[in-house]
Amino acid sequence: MVRIKLEHISMRFGDFYAVRDINLEINSGEYVTILGPSGCGKTSLIKVISGIWTPTEGKVYFDGLDVTKVPMEDRDVGYVFQNIALFPHMTLKENVAYSPRVKDQGEEAMESLSTEYLQLVNMLARAGMYPRELSGGEQQKVAIARALASGSKMLMLDEPLSALDARVRMELRYEIRRLVKKLGITVLHVTHDQEEAMSVSDRIVLMRYGTIAEAGSPLDIYRKPSSVFAANFIGETNLMECTVSDRSKSGKTKVKLRGGREIRTSKTNFSVGDPVVISVRPEHVYPAIDGLEAEVQSIVFMGTYWRVRTLAESRDYVEYNVPADEEVPEVGDTVHLVFNKKAVVVFARPQGGIEEEIRLE
Ligand SMILES: Nc1ncnc2c1ncn2[C@@H]1O[C@H](COP(=O)(O)OP(=O)(O)O)[C@@H](O)[C@H]1O
Ligand SMILES: [Mg+2]
Repeated sequence: MVRIKLEHISMRFGDFYAVRDINLEINSGEYVTILGPSGCGKTSLIKVISGIWTPTEGKVYFDGLDVTKVPMEDRDVGYVFQNIALFPHMTLKENVAYSPRVKDQGEEAMESLSTEYLQLVNMLARAGMYPRELSGGEQQKVAIARALASGSKMLMLDEPLSALDARVRMELRYEIRRLVKKLGITVLHVTHDQEEAMSVSDRIVLMRYGTIAEAGSPLDIYRKPSSVFAANFIGETNLMECTVSDRSKSGKTKVKLRGGREIRTSKTNFSVGDPVVISVRPEHVYPAIDGLEAEVQSIVFMGTYWRVRTLAESRDYVEYNVPADEEVPEVGDTVHLVFNKKAVVVFARPQGGIEEEIRLE
């Protein structure tokens, strides 16, 4: 088991910071996903943690030991690279036995480790095949087996599933989690897919512009994001600009939407007059008499529900869900919508406005 600690880590190329002043602790056996838009520094961060790169500033600790300058081969880290899967000229078995061979562990260890890990990912029957004879998902399983066979108690996965079909991706993500939990391995899993991050992680570290935008359990970030960026990036949400119109001593808050309608939100520390943004997820918006007036713009069938997109009297687009077996309105209809106040999260209005705040590049 390995505990990781990062202290003021930066990775700079010339004047450009790929990673800037990151502080983070990862518990032994924890499954952490590094989530964020393309180019935000995810790969750079795990390269620093695994010793492929030495950070320009800061320190990396494994179990309290400063390993900042220790090269990768002495850090005992399993790594599945983005876009690089298996050695094409080796059989699956030879691929998985690669690390035991490099470490000179002997024929017997090579045999038993490659058998054990191919078995673990259900690929033992095909041990003698070459990577080109497998589907993308099968190759990825073998790549993971190869990383695990190194015996490392720490595994870095860089977008291990991005190249796969949706269904395979889903099966494999649960499979990976099951495996590493069984082995008690500390995992850093890089992804730009928020759904993948939510479904496998103990904790999500959300990155943006080389820094940590937010970190927490999937449930906490989903329910109580602390920024407009996080609310929008993790899960789907409706964002509306408004102004605080009332707040009681206990924190009960009301905000005024554009057009003047007042609604209740979850408790806050804001003051009357503060410019804010509210976030409310589609599943917390319901049709009800006396609600916000809105015109239906489009209706999309999502399988278990209909997603209804409306343009509200406040000039905000507001989306909500209608269960598949219930009656849906038609495009052009007027509906009235209310929000579950406990699920309405309030943020200070970002300086550059909502669009700027949720921009991905
Ligand atoms: N070797 C390098 N030299 C210069 N810039 C780099 C290098 N590697 C990465 N970068 C830059 O650092 C930023 C973060 O890259 P990366 O960590 O690969 O992002 P992500 O994995 O989140 O997509 C990008 O803007 C990228 O162009
Ligand atoms: Mg990357």
